[in-house]
Amino acid sequence: MQVDFDFTGRHVVVFGGTTGINFGIAHAFARQGAGLTVASRKPENVEAAVAELRGHGGEVHGVCADVRDFDAVGRALQESVDRFGPIDVLVSGAAGNFLCEAKDMSSNGFKVVVDIDLVGSFHVLRQAHAHLRKPGASVISITAPQSFVPMRYQAHACAAKAGVDQLTRVLALEWGGEGVRINSISPGPIDGTEGFRKLMAPSAAERAYAQDAVPLKRFGSLDDIANLALFLASPYAGYISGALIPCDGGGAFESVKPALEAAGQAMAAAGAG
Ligand code: COA
Ligand code: NAP
Repeated sequence: MQVDFDFTGRHVVVFGGTTGINFGIAHAFARQGAGLTVASRKPENVEAAVAELRGHGGEVHGVCADVRDFDAVGRALQESVDRFGPIDVLVSGAAGNFLCEAKDMSSNGFKVVVDIDLVGSFHVLRQAHAHLRKPGASVISITAPQSFVPMRYQAHACAAKAGVDQLTRVLALEWGGEGVRINSISPGPIDGTEGFRKLMAPSAAERAYAQDAVPLKRFGSLDDIANLALFLASPYAGYISGALIPCDGGGAFESVKPALEAAGQAMAAAGAG
């Protein structure tokens, strides 16, 4: 189920917006008439996303940029601003992850996830600041329950997402005076996504066990997250800033942690992820 908000004539940028959860968010804003830019690394992902998003409402632009490259992020944002004007809504959701026990993780393996999730988030937010509509812009970071639920095999992602949460809180303090709101969405296990596949590709029995452990008895959907993003970007959320909002069926991650870790153990042992 999708909710309705009108973003006609608004400029929305979604970093990491070409697949999965962030693509679901981009799709929702396209349907609501926004002028939309989606950005990620791989040209094939950007092309496919733009092809899928066009014709659903507002004008759509795609751009290739790696969030680890500060200047490339700046160029991508400038392109979007040249086309659509000041940014009304910025979603920062690019991330990478794999399962590996910390004692076996290389320095570069730890660094790559911190560079994408945390340093990349800083690059996106920092480069966007000059272009945000002031007052009025809404910034949304996509974090994860790993930021506060310690998870085996995810030292890099836990550390990085905890940093993303603190970035949200600090920027809410620093940018609030300019009329910019910034919040984080923390999705639970969202079915059909790369993150779900990478972190819990369990057997049918494990999947059923994990689903039953979720207080609301189901995994999340793309629409669950997209609807929250639409709300946070809307005037109805006008007094919400610096918030970290779980959208996880009632503490799902903590509930499914044993199942996740069992699946993770098997996958890490097999060298998958
Ligand atoms: N286990 C252990 N180490 C791993 C690993 C795994 N499964 N996958 C990658 N690494 C290590 C590599 O060995 C390398 O370290 P090294 O130089 O010491 O050998 C380091 O991580 C970087 O890997 P590389 O493949 O060069 O990085 P990349 O920039 O091409 O890709 C990833 C980044 C690894 C995060 C990749 O999984 C990715 O692009 N992910 C995006 C999609 C995603 O993860 N979605 C889910 C979001 S929750
Ligand atoms: P996904 O489909 O892999 O989404 C990640 C996106 O980021 C892709 O569009 C990817 O596109 C882009 N990306 C990756 N590295 C990048 C880089 N260096 N520069 C620019 N873009 C980059 O995974 P997902 O599962 O939907 O996850 C989306 C977000 O939700 C992430 O922030 C994740 O941590 C969070 N989350 C997911 C779940 C879940 O259940 N799936 C749960 C909690 C939190 P390219 O490959 O083209 O770059």
